Amino acid sequence: MKRMIICTMATILNIGALLFWADARNAEAADPVLKNDDCVKCHAAIVHQVDQAGNKHKTEVECMECHAGTHPPGVEKGSLIPGCATCHEGEPHFQLENCLGCHRNPHEPLNIVFGDNVKAACDTCHSAVVAEINTHQSAHAEVDCSFCHDRHGFKPDCMDCHDPHMSGQQYAACVSCHQVHRPLELAYGAEIPNSDCGACHSDIRSALEAGATKHAAMQCVYCHADKHGNVPQCQSCHGTPHNEQMLSKFPSCNECHQSAHSLLK
Ligand code: HEC
Ligand code: HEC
Ligand code: HEC
Ligand code: HEC
Ligand code: HEC
Ligand code: HEC
Ligand code: HEC
Ligand code: HEC
Ligand code: HEC
Ligand code: HEC
Ligand code: HEC
Ligand code: HEC
Repeated sequence: MKRMIICTMATILNIGALLFWADARNAEAADPVLKNDDCVKCHAAIVHQVDQAGNKHKTEVECMECHAGTHPPGVEKGSLIPGCATCHEGEPHFQLENCLGCHRNPHEPLNIVFGDNVKAACDTCHSAVVAEINTHQSAHAEVDCSFCHDRHGFKPDCMDCHDPHMSGQQYAACVSCHQVHRPLELAYGAEIPNSDCGACHSDIRSALEAGATKHAAMQCVYCHADKHGNVPQCQSCHGTPHNEQMLSKFPSCNECHQSAHSLLK
């Protein structure tokens, strides 16, 4: 009840001020009646927004540059509202429709909220990422960017949507094998621990580490470098270790050495 009285009084005061101002305006029609400093008297909430989060709409433009013209009453509603194109033109980004669909509040221009069909808008600035995702078929290419990036700059955790291959595996591991915008193309560096491969190839990992040869201490990715599924030849590292005669009789190294993973010496 108290609030209502205060609100009503505030409205009366505002209307009073507006009438006073309209009078003053009629009296000196030629003079610019309103100044940027006056807005706060009646639009305190907006002035506060601009003050807190106006960014370049605070530092590079003033209220009256956007709201140029005759203030109500007496003019059609909306006539003081500028189009964005008045000032933003000439870049692909400015050809988009519905600017206020993302920049919900022009008084807080970087407070950006995405809808659910924004790929074309992202393309105006991140064309490399959009091209990458579009040219590498995967389930991630089937969804919109905002399915994962629901606000600008936010990067989701894989585990928001997936279980890890083994317990304890962290985000950093996921992106050391998967590139998120082309998740089916597995590529990795030389730092992947054998335990990460062992999440799916546990038999091979056990066999390798149980061995008594120098292979036992080696990294999976030292031999299976760069890309998942790469299988090296023994000779690519060992050249020709025995005489030609022997090798032509036993063309497969593993006839004697068994396997790279459970190597017999
Ligand atoms: C960069 C341009 C720009 C600047 C600077 C700007 N505004 Fe606005 N303002 C707009 C636009 C665009 C709208 C219409 C928003 C909409 O349709 O949702 C608007 C709407 C308004 C409205 C109407 C709000 C409503 O709910 O109907 C008021 C009042 C207003 N602005 C006051 C101000 C004041 C005061 C300042 C300075 C502190 C200011 N504006 C600075 C662009 C601007
Ligand atoms: C004396 C109080 C008062 C002052 C001072 C004032 N306004 Fe307003 N303003 C209002 C009221 C009341 C309305 C709503 C009018 C309506 O809805 O018809 C309004 C409406 C607006 C609108 C919406 C107009 C539209 O076309 O929809 C804008 C924009 C606006 N004001 C900007 C400003 C700016 C910028 C300043 C400072 C330069 C300012 N106002 C100063 C009272 C004021
Ligand atoms: C009266 C001119 C004017 C109007 C109208 C205007 N802007 Fe701006 N805006 C500027 C200026 C000047 C800058 C700072 C320079 C730049 O980034 O181009 C700016 C910057 C921005 C920024 C970057 C803010 C930052 O801090 O980096 C965004 C986002 C933006 N405007 C969105 C909009 C949208 C959306 C609209 C329409 C609702 C709009 N502007 C209308 C003048 C305007
Ligand atoms: C799909 C959402 C979306 C739409 C629609 C959108 N923007 Fe943006 N806009 C963004 C994002 C995201 C940024 C980057 C902000 C940052 O750098 O933090 C941005 C940045 C900007 C900037 C500042 C950077 C620059 O290039 O100058 C301006 C100005 C801008 N937008 C104006 C507009 C205008 C005008 C429209 C309508 C023609 C529009 N935006 C439509 C999302 C959008
Ligand atoms: C107007 C240009 C613009 C638009 C539109 C835009 N961005 Fe950005 N984005 C930027 C800038 C500038 C940065 C900060 C610099 C950087 O890291 O590249 C950024 C950063 C990002 C980041 C964080 C990058 C990092 O390494 O931390 C993500 C994620 C992102 N944008 C996603 C998107 C998505 C998704 C869209 C579409 C909904 C989008 N952006 C639309 C300009 C834009
Ligand atoms: C917002 C949810 C979401 C996030 C975050 C996410 N994904 Fe996915 N991902 C999905 C959906 C949905 C699918 C398709 C259904 C499924 O396989 O679960 C998918 C599928 C995949 C696939 C199989 C691709 C295919 O075409 O079959 C891989 C690999 C994958 N995600 C890896 C990752 C990795 C790695 C991360 C983190 C860098 C990640 N995802 C983050 C939702 C997400
Ligand atoms: C399945 C979830 C998912 C989808 C869909 C997705 N992203 Fe990402 N995006 C991520 C994750 C996770 C990262 C962080 C990757 C990292 O840490 O290596 C990221 C990083 C980024 C970055 C910053 C790093 C870079 O590669 O430049 C940008 C920009 C970006 N995404 C834009 C987009 C755009 C644009 C789209 C739509 C075409 C999109 N993303 C679709 C999850 C996703
Ligand atoms: C050592 C490399 C590696 C690491 C680390 C890794 N992955 Fe994978 N991931 C793979 C391989 C290889 C496949 C393909 C398996 C197949 O073909 O069945 C795969 C498949 C997937 C799939 C497709 C569905 C499935 O389970 O087969 C998802 C989703 C996925 N990974 C998510 C993740 C997440 C989340 C993380 C981090 C916790 C992660 N991956 C860490 C190599 C890795
Ligand atoms: C998410 C489970 C998963 C992870 C993690 C994983 N793999 Fe695999 N890997 C598979 C599956 C399933 C196959 C068989 C299907 C195929 O060929 O893609 C396979 C096949 C292979 C092959 C044989 C390809 C061929 O042509 O016979 C090699 C080599 C391989 N993986 C090495 C590795 C290495 C090295 C790592 C660690 C960097 C690793 N894998 C991590 C699931 C996984
Ligand atoms: C990516 C390179 C690489 C590949 C592929 C590779 N090896 Fe090796 N292998 C090594 C290295 C490095 C050593 C240790 C050499 C040293 O320390 O003198 C080694 C050692 C050996 C040894 C001696 C073991 C010991 O304990 O003294 C034998 C035998 C051997 N490899 C056989 C094979 C066979 C058979 C294959 C194929 C099935 C193979 N290697 C594939 C790199 C490789
Ligand atoms: C010394 C090099 C070397 C190391 C270390 C190594 N591999 Fe292999 N791997 C090979 C070679 C060579 C082959 C081809 C088959 C053969 O000759 O034994 C192979 C074959 C494979 C295959 C194909 C299917 C199969 O069972 O033969 C998979 C899967 C595989 N390795 C996974 C792994 C994993 C996981 C690790 C780590 C735990 C690992 N490898 C460590 C050299 C190596
Ligand atoms: C007929 C059985 C046989 C075949 C086939 C064979 N090896 Fe061997 N290899 C041996 C024996 C036995 C030794 C240990 C005695 C020695 O040092 O000569 C050995 C030793 C090695 C060593 C260790 C040499 C050192 O100096 O420590 C390497 C490396 C090696 N073999 C690689 C290969 C590769 C690669 C192939 C296939 C191209 C291959 N072997 C084929 C029997 C074989």
